[in-house]
Amino acid sequence: MGLIPDEIISQVLDRSDIVEIISEYLSLKKAGRNFKACCPFHNEKTPSFVVNRDKQIFHCFGCGAGGNVVSFVMQHDHVDFPMALRQLAQRAGIFIPETNSELGGKTKSLKEVVFKSNELTSEFFHDILVRGDKGSDKAKEYLQARGIRLETAQKLKLGFAPDGWDNLISFLRSKDINLSNMEKSGLVVAKERGQGFYDRFRGRIIFPIFDIRSRCIGFGARAMEKDTTAKYINSPETPVYVKGEHLYGFHLSKSAVAKEDYVVVVEGYMDFLTPFQEGFENIVASLGTALTTEQIRLIRRYTENVVMLFDADNAGELAMLRSLDLLIEEGMNVKVVSLEEGKDPDSFVHEAGIEKFKEQVLSAQTLFDYKMDVLSRRYDAKTVEGKARISAEMLATIQKFRNEVIKQEYVKKLARRLSVSEGALFVELGKIKGVLSGEPEVAKKKIQKASIRIVERNLLRLLLEEEHMIPSVLEEVDIEDFQDDQVRPIIEHIFDLSKTQKDFNTASLVHFFNDQETIQFISGLMASSDFESADKEILKKDFINRIKGDRVKIQRKDLCFQIQQAETDGDHERLEDLKQKFNQLIRGNQ
Ligand code: CTP
Ligand code: MN
Repeated sequence: MGLIPDEIISQVLDRSDIVEIISEYLSLKKAGRNFKACCPFHNEKTPSFVVNRDKQIFHCFGCGAGGNVVSFVMQHDHVDFPMALRQLAQRAGIFIPETNSELGGKTKSLKEVVFKSNELTSEFFHDILVRGDKGSDKAKEYLQARGIRLETAQKLKLGFAPDGWDNLISFLRSKDINLSNMEKSGLVVAKERGQGFYDRFRGRIIFPIFDIRSRCIGFGARAMEKDTTAKYINSPETPVYVKGEHLYGFHLSKSAVAKEDYVVVVEGYMDFLTPFQEGFENIVASLGTALTTEQIRLIRRYTENVVMLFDADNAGELAMLRSLDLLIEEGMNVKVVSLEEGKDPDSFVHEAGIEKFKEQVLSAQTLFDYKMDVLSRRYDAKTVEGKARISAEMLATIQKFRNEVIKQEYVKKLARRLSVSEGALFVELGKIKGVLSGEPEVAKKKIQKASIRIVERNLLRLLLEEEHMIPSVLEEVDIEDFQDDQVRPIIEHIFDLSKTQKDFNTASLVHFFNDQETIQFISGLMASSDFESADKEILKKDFINRIKGDRVKIQRKDLCFQIQQAETDGDHERLEDLKQKFNQLIRGNQ
């Protein structure tokens, strides 16, 4: 992230009223202390999208989207934090310097040079292909033979890197890019012995790779002959190209993905190009690897629904299984298409046509069926060992679903398919999670935890509403008094900020968190109806007492348990120690 000074961030937030800004995107209607609209982030007919001016937050009670004004612009315009901030700054007439630190300055300008070198390079290779000079006739023929039309080559800026060792070097030199920067851009390679460099890409078809903002970040280069050692040569990682963070073609397909509300993920350049050219535009390519968390999060800005269409070879199958687990962990809905052995999406479209391709996508298998199929080919589902292997691998995936209902349904389905008891599978599932389900102690703890959560959340909500109470609460509670993993870090931040920032107000709180889950949690609390009629001082005291009381209860229970253990172990020294602690605890809290 470009380092934007904190005071500028605060200035931008101060001068960007959330109600005004969101009104530019949606028509807001006043409703009590809030404003309401139909949520722009999911489909709905009755408004559950709320904007609160006092707290400067928005929250959708339908889909959970939420945050401050910057989060809104980020999500709505699909831009990153610095970009959203720059947009708001511009609107507010605030000047943001390009960089503010030495380090920031250096990395930023190097990135700019790399982007520039890449852009010049992609244009150089593209011009050669289109104009047909430097022996690019054979490249044109190659693409033609693979069914790629000129207009498609133009959309994706495909190019041709001519034979020879320094075509690109001479060109870039004429554009004032020095060799060191060419090397940092991954475009040239140092000669093994002695001095000098040579062009990395020679005699190949060039596929420029763009980021979501259509900036050229790297290249893939395909050989045109069958018998070369490397079919593809790719850019190395550079300051602007971290592998696994981008998706090929997404800069062109993102709006179609948002519109169709699902994306087809394929492996290769050609697997993207051919369906895209034939009008199937909600598609991206992962470039030959399993999907990464970064790629999945990039997709999630546009849709939660993914159809995986990987090659039906062994490598493809493995990449697929790894991708599927990650997709589920990220809460996406996944389906899978398996093509016939030896086919990839590119060859499939050429042989069967785009309509058949669509049919395949629309009749994609559920993740469950796909993984069952793969496993049934590997293990014999009729033998005891086979059932054990299959159930272990299926449960490992099922366990990753966030939704308990879905988990249960899949366990039931698995039990039917393997003819084993549901009970046995639930026990195995429990083992994976490290929780022995059905154990009374655990169940009790869970219930207790749920009630703690409500009190802690209520206190947090009260603090968000009545920030003048922060100092007095700070005097009475410790951060350790909070048991809820979601509440504790937020309270901790509030305490820290209230101590270090003179004019801290909770409306700027969201800005200090990066993860979407926490931001939405905060906006949800802020947007909930407040404790209007209640006496807030009494509420505060009550919440604090209950939180402190719960902590003592937990400590007491814990000590009892340890005392029991020490007794069974016959560890007298420890037993004395624990009993003393127990007495202290009781005395201190009466
Ligand atoms: N890939 C790569 N380097 C390789 C092989 C593959 O970077 N040596 C990446 C490329 O992005 C490629 C993808 O993995 O597009 C899938 O590989 P593969 O299926 O072997 O190639 P295809 O995409 O089918 O390429 P083509 O149709 O041109 O043969
Ligand atoms: Mn192919």
